[in-house]
Amino acid sequence: MTLVFETIPHPRPLDAGSRSAALENPGFGKHFTDHMVTIRWNSEAGWHDARVEARRPFEIDPAASVLHYAQEIFEGMKAYRGADGRILLFRPEENARRFNLSAERMAMPQLPEDIFLEAVKRLVDVDRDWVPGNGGSLYLRPFMFSDEAFLGVRPASSYVFCVIASPAGAYFRNGDDAIRLWVTPDYTRAAPGGTGAAKCGGNYAGSLLAQRQAIARECDQVLFLDAVEGRWVEELGGMNIFFVFDDGRLITPPLRGTILPGITRDSIMTIARERGLTVSEAPVSFDQWQADAASGSLTEAFACGTAAVIAGIGSVLSPGGQFAVGDGKTGPVTTALRDELTALQRGDRPDRHGWVQACS
Ligand code: PLP
Ligand code: COI
Repeated sequence: MTLVFETIPHPRPLDAGSRSAALENPGFGKHFTDHMVTIRWNSEAGWHDARVEARRPFEIDPAASVLHYAQEIFEGMKAYRGADGRILLFRPEENARRFNLSAERMAMPQLPEDIFLEAVKRLVDVDRDWVPGNGGSLYLRPFMFSDEAFLGVRPASSYVFCVIASPAGAYFRNGDDAIRLWVTPDYTRAAPGGTGAAKCGGNYAGSLLAQRQAIARECDQVLFLDAVEGRWVEELGGMNIFFVFDDGRLITPPLRGTILPGITRDSIMTIARERGLTVSEAPVSFDQWQADAASGSLTEAFACGTAAVIAGIGSVLSPGGQFAVGDGKTGPVTTALRDELTALQRGDRPDRHGWVQACS
């Protein structure tokens, strides 16, 4: 399918001084680039009206179904400035593919993968001065929502696809320090048959009360256990999880429809196997995690995702008490995997997997 993108450059982009100040210490999700890409879909015309234009508020009908029934999905990916000046995307076709899996689950239209990729690349190209150097990246947020004004409960007949971008540094406030998790006894994230494997806004809305509990306990992220037995470790509010053992095993919970199939998770499994670790996708109970951490056979644990990259887990708090993982600091296996992953993402290692795409 071909779609012609109309480009209407921002008449007053942010001045270079203010942009440099924003890029200096961007944090996460606080600053936004000058442009956005939008494409519309309706049941008569299909995908149409593709634009690269100044980032601005949407005008939306108060009856737009997304505001009532949350028909919304999103992606998270990053553009990196390589040492040779090229701007690189990491496995962007996987985001395009997952976007359509999320769309299918939420009864939304499929966006051809080449159009998803073109939209992302056009935004990075027009806002290329916003890609930080020095270990930062430009976080890209493609998303789609229903905008039909209709209050009946059924899939909407019109949607907006949009991509915005935000310069990003460390996701967690303490930078590279190991994070602290809160294991919620009260709330679950996803049940079998639910939407846990889709990247839909509703999953995150449902996680916020547990995340608030985590923050109140000075924890960085909430850890969710499975909804059926309340026993098996699933994932964090916005990241997948891995466990490292002293005999060279690396374990991550299996994807069974309740966990987001992370692209970082998948990349780490490949990198870890290449480094000689024995990687498996296997259930880990919370009790076993505690016992193995206490015996010392489980030496490290880490969280991973596009925003967080790879973050060591130092301690875990639950209503039963707190325990440390290893010595409470980011461990050597976690650090080695993080270094390898970020080197691949930035083009500092040969791209032996075909994971990296130059933007333009
Ligand atoms: N799990 C959840 C709930 C997430 O929000 C994310 C982030 O996107 C991940 C896992 C990791 O996915 P990825 O590595 O594709 O960013
Ligand atoms: C991402 O890593 O892209 C996410 O969407 C997770 C969220 C914590 C920002």
